[in-house]
Formats: sequence, structure tokens, C-alpha cells
Amino acid sequence: MSAAPRAVPLHSPAARHAADAPAREAAALRALRSGRYVGGPERDAFEAALADAMGWPFAVGVSSGTEALSLALMALGLQPGDEVLVPAVSFFATAGAVLRLGARPVMVDVRADLPLMDEQDAILAMGPQVRAAVPVHLFGLDAGATPSLRGAYPALQVVDDLAQAAGSGPSLGGGRFGALSFYPTKVLGAPGDGGAVLCRDIDDQQRVVRLGHHGRGPTGAHEAVEGWIGGNARLSELSAAVLRVELDSLPARVAARQRTAARIVGALRGRLRFVLPPGGPTGNVALLCLRHPRPAALHDRLAARGVGSARYYPRSLGAEPALQGRARLRPCPEAEAFCREALAVPCREDMTEADVEHVILSLIDAADALAQAPR
Ligand SMILES: Cc1ncc(COP(=O)(O)O)c(C=O)c1O
Repeated sequence: MSAAPRAVPLHSPAARHAADAPAREAAALRALRSGRYVGGPERDAFEAALADAMGWPFAVGVSSGTEALSLALMALGLQPGDEVLVPAVSFFATAGAVLRLGARPVMVDVRADLPLMDEQDAILAMGPQVRAAVPVHLFGLDAGATPSLRGAYPALQVVDDLAQAAGSGPSLGGGRFGALSFYPTKVLGAPGDGGAVLCRDIDDQQRVVRLGHHGRGPTGAHEAVEGWIGGNARLSELSAAVLRVELDSLPARVAARQRTAARIVGALRGRLRFVLPPGGPTGNVALLCLRHPRPAALHDRLAARGVGSARYYPRSLGAEPALQGRARLRPCPEAEAFCREALAVPCREDMTEADVEHVILSLIDAADALAQAPR
């Protein structure tokens, strides 16, 4: 009987929990025993610690990254019919949040070297209806598009999609708002859905708080905020308590991810092309992605050896059915090429030495076999 292949999943929230279980479970118990499950001290403490860690003046805990994007767009006063520049490579929510408000996402191509909004194409995509831009710091990379875009168009409102970028560094994101996701597989992941809106001033913080709580103001009356009624988008005390523990270890975990990425990339140099800046791994390495002409075949060969991988993302946003007739679609050849080739491979802080070796050897085998195999 042959031994089962070593399993190295792409994501492992359970392994992350196990690495810090006593502290996380103590925090969860504290929240559970408090009887206060929404809008209490755990949320307050986490928001303060998060703002500090991200280098923004204010953070508002919310129920998901999707809600964080929607609330930020409402708070800046986006209106139905407005257009919003969005990079053509991202998770659907980046465009979905714009669509939910009755506004139109405008597809902007990504750079040839990295799947980040291309500044020149963003400028070509500008038009009279464009009110805002949402640069996405995909895979925890620095999208960097904000300063030059704002320089060229001072009236343009910017929301940084930082859903994948917690721990990437305090300088990320120059917009008016930042949106974070704490989906369990994120580098800062909650035991459930969660997110946060980062704000620059107290007025914006108040707008977001109120929009996330039915427009309720200091007198208890419910009012529209920037024309929006808002709703319920609050972060739970349980998630906030666990997230605060995870935040403490974020810098060390990010450093470990960078080291692992550097090892994998170094070992595969000349064989595989990784999606990284020229200097190597930076930021939180939310996903270690590579480009290969046959990502599905590579995925299958890795799976046969127990190595998890996934297409991030198999199609550009402009190809999503929900955008047809609802977005300003523009040619995005770099985005299309990226989506044809991208595959994310395991690079987690909790991987053992043997896991890393197994991923490296499996990638070498798979890459070499595909280089020889007929298509
Ligand atoms: C780039 C990006 N934007 C937005 C989101 C939405 O976050 P959530 O899943 O927490 O709603 C995600 C998360 O998957 C994401 O990766």
C-alpha cells in the first residue's frame, strides 16, 4: 500500500488557529461569556489596534470586506449613474460593490508586470461620469496608483481595496477610505465574515459608523447619510476578540510568509515565473501566484501530489456575466492574459520545513513534466 501524498493546502485557517489556540480560545470565551455580542469593548479595542497597525487614523469594524467597500462608496457620496474605475483583475466584490449602488464600474487594464491598476490606462479611461477609483492591492502588493491618479484628477475620490493587504505595511493606500476583509483565508482572518473601513478623519468615520447602523445618529434618529439609508453591517464581538489576538502576531506571520515565498521563488528561478516585484516578495504575500501557459494542467499535477493551488482569478472582471450591460467594458489585454495564466500555490506562515520542501519539489516536477509534455 503506498502512503498518501503529503497534503499541503493552499489555505489552512485551522492550522493558523492551532498555532495560537490558547490565546484565541481565551479571547473567544471572554467574548462569549460577556453576553455582549455586537458593538462592545472587543470591537472598540480591535478598531483602535487595527487603525494603529494599518497607520490610518480610524478603523470601523464591519461585517465583511464587501460591506466595507459598499459603505466607503456610500460615505463618499457616490450616486447611481456615476462611474468608478476598477482594475480588471480582482475578486468580484470590487466591481459588485459599485454595481450594488447603481453605479457603473469602468474596466481598467492591469500592468504587464503585476496585476495592479495600470495608471496610464486609468487616465485613458477617465470620462465626465467618473467620480471615483478603487485601486486593488491584490495579493497584498502595493497598487501605488493613487498618488498620480489624484495628482492628475484632484476631484477623483479614491477607495483603496485593501481586502488582501492587512499587514502589507502602513504606507499602503493613499485614498480617502480603505476597505479590509477578514474572510477566514485572509492573512488577518476572522472566525467568520468580517471587514473594516479605514478612514482619514472623524467625519468620515462617523459617516461609515452611521451607514453601518441604519443611519442612526447621536440623537437616536435615523437619517440618510450622503443620500444613502445604510443598513446593518456590524462586526461581531466574537470576531473582534479573535482578530485582536491575530493582529498581535501579524508582523511575525508576514515575515514568515515573505521568507517562505523567497525560498520557493529562489528554488524555482529559471523554471517558473512568479507574480512579484523585481526585488522579490514584499507585503503580506496574501497569495503567492505564478504565471504558466497551462495553469489547469499545473494545478492537476500539483493536486496529484497533495499540493493545493487555485486560479486567482480564472476570468477578468469584464468577463463576469453580472457586468454585461452594467459596466463600461474596455479592452484589457493584460488582464485577459493574466487570468489565462495565473495560479496561486501554498505559501503560509504555518508551513513546516517539510511542507516547503514538498511544494518546491512538486513544482519542479510539475513544471519540468509540462515543459516536455505535448499540450
Ligand atoms: C480584492 C478583494 N476585494 C473584496 C473582497 C471582499 O471581501 P469579503 O469576502 O470579506 O466580503 C475580497 C475578499 O475575498 C477581495 O479579495
